Amino acid sequence: MCGIIGIITSERDQTGSDRVLDTVVEGLERLEYRGYDSAGVAVIDPERKTGLWRARAANGTRSLEDLVKQMEDAPRGSPAGIGHTRWATHGRPDEHNAHPHVDCTGRLALVHNGIIENHVELADELIAGGHRLVSETDTEVLAHLIEAAIVANPEARLEDAVRVALARVEGAFALAVIHAAWPDEIVAARRVSPLLMGVSDDHAFLASDVPAILGLTRDFFILEDDRVAVLTPGSLRVTDLDGNEVEPPRLHVDWDLDAARRDGYDDYMSKEMAEQPEAIANTLRDRVLPDGTLVLDEVHITDAEFQAINKVFIVACGSSYHAGLMAKYAIEHWARIPVEIDIASEFRYRNPVLDAQTLVIGVSQSGETVDTFQAIREAAAQGAKVLVISNVVDSSMARESDAVLYTRAGPELGVAATKTHIAQITALEILALYLAQARHQLTPADARALLAHMDVLPEKVARVLERSHAVHEVAERFRDSSAFIFLGRHVGYPVALEGALKLKELSYLRAEGFPAGELKHGPIALVEPGTVVIGVATRTPVWDKMMSNIAEVKSRGASIVLVANDGDEETARHADAVLWVPETEHLFAPIVDVVALQQFAYSMARIHGLDVDRPRNLAKVVTVE
Ligand code: F6R
Repeated sequence: MCGIIGIITSERDQTGSDRVLDTVVEGLERLEYRGYDSAGVAVIDPERKTGLWRARAANGTRSLEDLVKQMEDAPRGSPAGIGHTRWATHGRPDEHNAHPHVDCTGRLALVHNGIIENHVELADELIAGGHRLVSETDTEVLAHLIEAAIVANPEARLEDAVRVALARVEGAFALAVIHAAWPDEIVAARRVSPLLMGVSDDHAFLASDVPAILGLTRDFFILEDDRVAVLTPGSLRVTDLDGNEVEPPRLHVDWDLDAARRDGYDDYMSKEMAEQPEAIANTLRDRVLPDGTLVLDEVHITDAEFQAINKVFIVACGSSYHAGLMAKYAIEHWARIPVEIDIASEFRYRNPVLDAQTLVIGVSQSGETVDTFQAIREAAAQGAKVLVISNVVDSSMARESDAVLYTRAGPELGVAATKTHIAQITALEILALYLAQARHQLTPADARALLAHMDVLPEKVARVLERSHAVHEVAERFRDSSAFIFLGRHVGYPVALEGALKLKELSYLRAEGFPAGELKHGPIALVEPGTVVIGVATRTPVWDKMMSNIAEVKSRGASIVLVANDGDEETARHADAVLWVPETEHLFAPIVDVVALQQFAYSMARIHGLDVDRPRNLAKVVTVE
């Protein structure tokens, strides 16, 4: 969930600035979406007694940048540096707990993403051995374990000491270490949490994520689980935990750095919502042959294996879970395979019944969410086939699955999922059609007709986006309301859940989503004059049942906002306000309908003066349980 960066160079800057320090701080700014409650940097500084210089600040990278500018002792010409932007897990989000953490000598600095699960016992042991631990973090034990390994074996290289320390820790980590005694290297290691590296003539660099170092390279090396890397200017060497040299996998990235910037929009979220038609089109691209056949190049499960599948499990969290729920309807309807869906954190611990004929679909835009990652690992361990829907090429989950379907939405920096969510639904719908075809449940003519509906989805979503002013006016009307209930039936139900999640995470308002038919079994007790009920009332086979549920809440004094198909005055008559969307094939309707609810949540957050890109308490990539 945190972001890390490191750079080492043989070029000494004589201009009075510090290239390493500046590059680390700039890289951290591009990593802020991974966590933004504090940030810090440490660089090798031979001018200082400890050989290290460090600066840390609460409130993220901008505060760090200001602090660094003000510090008169900031170094010039450092050979190596590391930086970190934090999302607190252990210890308050303050400067004191910000990374980098140092050892007792102050000569070793370390940044870490992940969680050290046995940190309490390790800290007790270290303190008993005379170490001084000064923060509330789990990370600090790593610095002291490495220090202890260096003391125990003065002949050891830094990488050897890191290996000794890692043998003691349980949990997840991506870490980078610098030490004044080894000023010309950075040692990095990884288990579960992602880490990428790059090399150029005079430099080597590492980061938890592409945007941090995209300006420095397009060709990355991936550090795999339980690997240790030593970066020196112009080169890197990767070994396993026993010290055997291994070749790291490579990754070429075509993303333009500008694609990761705001492009003149007020915020990332509005830019990313505007990119949704493109995200759908890109996700569909090359997957359909002119004769209507679906081709999924990245899926390496044979048709025979698909035909043998007798059960599908979908595992995911948050918005990705909602995308999975939408897919359940499509897969069951078209492919006629029973689908179970689980919140990933529940699936892991409930001993699910899986076998080689079960397809487990992990849905995760980041491909790094630890609960979903561990859920697919559990599925693979039980012999199930694992397919991952991810937006990040070569993400941890993608690398550990039997098959991958990438969503091609491009980098998403707003914390709330928008374009990646839409692309997930698109990819899952493609998968549903593919499964139906592989299992001979859909005639070619039917498949072609459905594909024709998919082809026009980008245009329909663009039409919803053009109406943002009208949606904003509806949000203005209800700006002072404090309780929102989202209702839907069939595929409208996950749309309602997603609408409620978006509103609560962006506006911090009470918003709950329910299947409309379930309302009278309890939640209707919440409805009173002043409650705003937002209903997904686009035309599906259950539209009339949905309208009966709307009548129930209307008669209890709720204000009614309905998502309705263009020109559907019959629906509009039941509403105080309407969010209009184009009509589409009802199993594809979530792709269009959810956009109106994203915009409603966005407008409400802006009306309340909130930061839509960085909602409180949230992080973009959730790599803790
Ligand atoms: C909500 C949101 C989260 C994510 C969830 C899963 O707007 O973004 O609910 O959907 O944290 O993340 P991924 O898809 O990366 O596994």
